[in-house]
Amino acid sequence: GTVLGIEGTAWNLSAAIVNEKDVIAEVSDMYRPPTGGIHPREAAQHHAKYASYVVKGVLEEAKQKGVDASDIDAISFSQGPGLGACLRTVATAARMLAISLDVPLVGVNHCLAHVEVGRWKTPATDPVTLYVSGANSQVLAYRMGRYRVFGETLDIGLGNAFDKFARSAGLGHPGGPQIEQFARNASNYIPLPYVVKGMDLSFSGLSTAATAALKDNSMEDVCYSFQETAFAMVVEVTERALAHTGKNEVLLAGGVGANMRLREMLDIMCNERGANFYVPEKRFMGDNGAMIAYLGLLMYDSGNVIDVENSHVNPNFRPDDVDVTWIPRDFE
Ligand code: ATP
Ligand code: FE2
Repeated sequence: GTVLGIEGTAWNLSAAIVNEKDVIAEVSDMYRPPTGGIHPREAAQHHAKYASYVVKGVLEEAKQKGVDASDIDAISFSQGPGLGACLRTVATAARMLAISLDVPLVGVNHCLAHVEVGRWKTPATDPVTLYVSGANSQVLAYRMGRYRVFGETLDIGLGNAFDKFARSAGLGHPGGPQIEQFARNASNYIPLPYVVKGMDLSFSGLSTAATAALKDNSMEDVCYSFQETAFAMVVEVTERALAHTGKNEVLLAGGVGANMRLREMLDIMCNERGANFYVPEKRFMGDNGAMIAYLGLLMYDSGNVIDVENSHVNPNFRPDDVDVTWIPRDFE
């Protein structure tokens, strides 16, 4: 099959066309907030303005590769989780496209799209996935027809914790890459609040404490200590999910996954346990249209389509609410 998918849960608007073999075309346009602040409504306006640009662009790119609009079997879109205004804008574009091409519509859970594109583009088959982005931080694994959430943040996502700290420290947006740079030149570890409650995580207090620590410590030492503390927390929960499920693969997903220190810590943990650690190519780590098109394809192939009338978005869409129709029941 061939599916056109649209992602737009947050700042990145991206359309892609995929088939079982590969990504045929992808066109994205990122909303850049003028002041680095959070403007969900402006992001939604951006998505409305550029929806036709990314859709037309991806159709043209596909055409040059011999794939016509008439070859498209379904339209998929991110149904959630994400910013309500952005989700509604993208859903409207997807509905119109499905109606005009007269093909089924598929509503995709954004978190599961990160997992499935990783299973597609790395050798991982049945991993524990650590998904760490701006708004999301979750540890997910498949079990008996569902992707279960084994642990998650109780407040903000790890990326947002970095960004919040960066903003109050006067660094630009996004914070993650700059924090990683400063951390490389640190000389001291400063104790910061390590908050793991059961299997769940909390980053808000850590971000505030890191900001306060800047008063008596260097930017380098604070960034380093912030990273070490936050990454130790997510690695701990990932490791316990491995132990609990008996799985032997870890997949990294989300924009924070670009961080080399996080990769190193996960790699060490996996080596100690005899597990395999997988990191997809960068283009499949952050939010991208290809992952939405690909999970759309898996869902379309397994009959998991929706009516336009029942295609409401859900800003709090949980991955464990999805009936996983695309994985055989006897998979495990
Ligand atoms: P989502 O809707 O999935 O939450 P998002 O809009 O946050 O997505 P992503 O591209 O997945 O988009 O992630 C962006 C986040 O990743 C930002 O918070 C940014 O600070 C963080 N990030 C990017 N590079 C790094 C890095 N090298 N180290 C740590 N964090 C990073
Ligand atoms: Fe994401």
